[in-house]
Amino acid sequence: MGIIFNEKESIFKLDTKNTSYIMGIEGDLGHLVHIYYGKKLKGDNNPSHMPVINFTHKIWFMDGNAMEYPADGCGDFREHCIEIRTEDGYSALEPVYVSHNIYKGKPLLPGLPATFADESCCMTLEIVMQDALAGVEAVLLYSVFEDTDVITRSVRVRNISDKNVTLTKVLSACLDIVNDNYEVITLHGAWGRERSIQRQKLGYGRCGVFSERGVSGHQNHPFIALVSENTTQKTGDVYAMNFVYSGNYEAQCERTSNDMVRMVMGINPYNFAWKLESGQEFIAPEVVMVYSAEGLGKMTRTFHDLYRNHLIRGKYKDIKRPILINNWEATYFDFDTEKLLQIAKEAKKHGIEMLVVDDGWFGNRFDDNRALGDWVVNEDKIKGGLKYLVDEVNKLGMKFGMWFEPEMICPDSDLYRAHPDWAFHIPGREGARARNQMVLDMTRKEVRDYIFDSMAKVLNSANVEYIKWDMNRALTDVASLSLPADRQGEIYHRYMLAVYELQERIVKEFPHILLENCSSGGGRYDPGMLYYSPQIWCSDNADAIDRLSIQEGTALIYPLSTMGAHVTDCPNHSVGRTTPFDTRGIVALAGTFGYELDVTKIDEKEREQISEQTKMFHKYNDLVREGDYYRLASYSLNNRYDCYMVVSKDKKEALVTYVQVKTVAAIPAPVIKLDGLLEDVKYYIDELENTMPGDVLMNMGLPVKPEHGDYKARLYHLIAE
Ligand code: GLA
Repeated sequence: MGIIFNEKESIFKLDTKNTSYIMGIEGDLGHLVHIYYGKKLKGDNNPSHMPVINFTHKIWFMDGNAMEYPADGCGDFREHCIEIRTEDGYSALEPVYVSHNIYKGKPLLPGLPATFADESCCMTLEIVMQDALAGVEAVLLYSVFEDTDVITRSVRVRNISDKNVTLTKVLSACLDIVNDNYEVITLHGAWGRERSIQRQKLGYGRCGVFSERGVSGHQNHPFIALVSENTTQKTGDVYAMNFVYSGNYEAQCERTSNDMVRMVMGINPYNFAWKLESGQEFIAPEVVMVYSAEGLGKMTRTFHDLYRNHLIRGKYKDIKRPILINNWEATYFDFDTEKLLQIAKEAKKHGIEMLVVDDGWFGNRFDDNRALGDWVVNEDKIKGGLKYLVDEVNKLGMKFGMWFEPEMICPDSDLYRAHPDWAFHIPGREGARARNQMVLDMTRKEVRDYIFDSMAKVLNSANVEYIKWDMNRALTDVASLSLPADRQGEIYHRYMLAVYELQERIVKEFPHILLENCSSGGGRYDPGMLYYSPQIWCSDNADAIDRLSIQEGTALIYPLSTMGAHVTDCPNHSVGRTTPFDTRGIVALAGTFGYELDVTKIDEKEREQISEQTKMFHKYNDLVREGDYYRLASYSLNNRYDCYMVVSKDKKEALVTYVQVKTVAAIPAPVIKLDGLLEDVKYYIDELENTMPGDVLMNMGLPVKPEHGDYKARLYHLIAE
């Protein structure tokens, strides 16, 4: 592990356990070129092919070689990373190497979520690049982790001139490599269908995903991977980037006419213009880069380890989360203290540990047309007050949690009547509403203070131990009355900084509270949010079958410990499907686990199954939360069944989940090759009442029990003998 600067060759070499990343400084001017990223190379003096600049044909040099941080306007016509506008209106930029610094540890990115590590397991390289004429400095940050094959990147841009400069584009990472028949993997989706995996051939031109909604979004995801065409779960090259950011982003791959590939990621330049006065600095959010020579599975496990150990924080980082019951699908807005206590009492009998009161407990909120912003308990519903309700829940031996949607305001609210200017709007224009709500102008300090104070008042009034922080619409009519015209292009990013500031205040002031983020389901499920909340509601669609693909796409990057997953009632409220209660439980066990149904109304047999399922949660959750995840089969690809497993770090225990979605006549139950076990160790499998050696399970396979019918799920628990 480490970072080395070879002065003679002017080469930087960054090593993780299994990967190397090399770049070099070319010529007297000091252009920073990219040389290599891939499998670890031994030694410090690696032969390099440093391209040589020829000023007669400078454009060929700039456009035809692998560059480390390409800028706009000086000959590199591919997607560049940085773009400015000087006071004189000029935009061309050519930052070149000035100096560098290598040190142990990893700096925080002030105001932004980022991975963290101490000096024992991480090193950082800062390369200072400058364009003296434009008066712009870009410091490129690379941090190398010892315990995972990860390199993180971000950029600090500073105005070193005595005039104003406007930053109109700043991406955080770029990777140039030679094409090798690559394919591109991205995640797409919609409400109720988040993070479906899409794999396509990388043709000539640009291919990528982005958000211009002010949130990372349901539609696409701030993740992109280049894979060689034969890449499987276990073999092949993978170059992946994931953005530690929750707002507008772009993630793109470009295949050029000379068959190079450029992969970039960063803040979307759409409506972005950040004014830097002399001496001011802009910090671009972090990109996590992973290279795997052992297929997608290795990439997945690298992200999982990084996020579990170096991103998620707080009391619940490494511990089981309480099994919750949420009243949303049970009652929607129709509840009161009595109903909530009935649910809690029944839930407690079956091992559920926390009652969460969802939308509707505040202000005049008897439907979703009003009252967002009025964070005052509605005592017509919560009769006896919040403290009474929470005390009663606590007396049952349960915790209590509640829902907020802090970033919003409804036109029909006391808050709007008092402060109509606090909503994003353009004076004179009727703004676009969604769910009859508008977005608060969080760039204003008084708005952030109001939200914090009103939330804190509620949280201090009773023993609240969980918050579901929701965000149910995209940003439109983005304008702030508190910013001058030449700073309106800063709002999208300032909005994100404000959300981060507010969540940081909440987690610092209430460190005992478990925060779960949500955005109409999983519309803001990204590493930025995971820095504040160890779990995120994965999707409003809790149908066990649809969840297989949603959870597969989510787990491609994010640890199972982060995936909010509940058992809900049937027919399912999103898609109308009826699945066995047992299957719903098994699928939800792959996440944080909880219930979202009226436990007082379901039939007795299902209630009894809850008791079984909550026991299973306690039996398996340490393994699920902490283990290594292996994707064995995908229903989204084979149209018949889904299968994944989690193996403990010491490989002595494993849990295989098999879901038979569709029975096909005359095709026997599959024999599934397991992964991640020890070859020479024998594993006892409860469900088969049989012992099988690791090498047999991994090469010959696990014969799953034949099932008759659809939507059948089974767990296979393996214990090393
Ligand atoms: C969003 C969330 C749901 C629920 C409702 C309440 O849609 O995703 O889980 O909290 O809001 O209005």
